[in-house]
Order: sequence, then C-alpha cells, then structure tokens
Amino acid sequence: MLSIPQYLDFAYTGKTKEICSFFLELLQRKNEVLYLHSQQVANYSASVAAKLGLSRKEIGIIRTAALMHDIGLLSVPNSIMNKFPYLSTREMAQYKRHCIAGCSMLENMEEFSGIIDLIRSHHEKWDGTGYPKRLKGVNIPLGARIIAVADYYDSVINPCATQWQKSHQEALQELLSAMGTAFDPEIVKAFIEAIVPGNTIKPVPVFNKKGPKEKSKTAAASLSSVATKVAETSELKEYE
Ligand SMILES: [Fe+2]
Repeated sequence: MLSIPQYLDFAYTGKTKEICSFFLELLQRKNEVLYLHSQQVANYSASVAAKLGLSRKEIGIIRTAALMHDIGLLSVPNSIMNKFPYLSTREMAQYKRHCIAGCSMLENMEEFSGIIDLIRSHHEKWDGTGYPKRLKGVNIPLGARIIAVADYYDSVINPCATQWQKSHQEALQELLSAMGTAFDPEIVKAFIEAIVPGNTIKPVPVFNKKGPKEKSKTAAASLSSVATKVAETSELKEYE
C-alpha cells in the first residue's frame, strides 16, 4: 500500500453520503477487489487534484466521482471482470457499457449532477481513442482525466486477475510511455509527483518543428530520460 495523503473527510451534500455508501456496499458485496479499487482510485485522484491546486470543493467532487466511477460494473458479471483484459468482442462490448450504465444509475439525482460527466468519461483517452464518446484532449473533463490515470495505475498493480499484476515501477513506466496518447501528460506528471514524494519530472515535449518522425523520436528519447529519472529516484524504492 502506498503512503499517500488521505482525503476522507470532505463534506457531502444532500443525501450523497447515504447513496455513495449504498453503492459502495453493493460493490463490496459483489466484488471486494472492485470495492478496494474504488477507494484507492478515490485517494489517488484526490491527491492529484490537490497537487494540481484545485479547490477543496473540486477535490471533493473528483473524489466522489472516483469512488463511484465503476458502479456501472455492478451490471457486469464477475466472470467477465476476472477475465479482463482477455475478453471476447461480445464480452468487451458488455464491459465497456459500464461507463454509461453508471451514469444511468445516477440520473435524475440532483446531488450527483456534477459527477455524472466524470463517470461517463473515465475511459476516454487523451488522443481520442477512448470510449464511450471518443473525446479528445481538454474536451475530456479534467476530473475524468485524473480518474483515468489513477484508475489505470491501481488496475495494473491490484488487478482482479493477479497473473498479470505489475509492479509499482512497471506501472509508472507504462504511465510515462502513455503520456500524450492515453493520458494527459500534465496529469501523469502530477500523479507521479503526488504519489512519489519529492519526485519531480519535466513535462515531455511531444511535438517539435522537425516533422512526424523526429517528433516521435524526440518524445521517445524524452520519455526514456524521464523514466530513467523516475527509476533512479531514491524515494521510489521505498514504495516498491
Ligand atoms: Fe471503469
């Protein structure tokens, strides 16, 4: 377990606390790993939001959205979740519907109007290849970009299917390699800085003036440099 700041005492409004507790209990009874995943993603997301200097209210909204981001998986059998990512086309389609399903569970509830967009968009990708709407870049809500990074990190270090579990360092390397494609580079940077205290990395230049080939070469070289720096950070060893 990583040592990260805890943000568990934000004020809830209306009946959000009771409704959150209800859905989290359903998640826990259905799949303990999924329940713990929700808690961890919420903590990571709140830490990143704080690192980015967002207001206490915004952090609370993002944390609540992160807690609830996968409630749509209540409609997906454990047998499918336990096979992820080795799913048939039909199973994958069923899995991907959980973003929309989660929103449907909360529609018409005034208290959750601020988090529905974040739940819907938590599998969108920075380069526009995600789902369900293939949103791109800053068109993806900021909170959803934060949850996406936290979700990926916790999913690979604590997966349902332990045979493809990865180490903390491997997960960070994968996040770095997906900067600018799957994930917002600034969010990845803030995530690493938030969960590896004392670590700072430079933003990765994705584009330059030398054309497409040179772009990817420069980005790859920079990523390699950043990855090496992260791997060499002494604090990292404490969290492996
Ligand atoms: Fe999800």
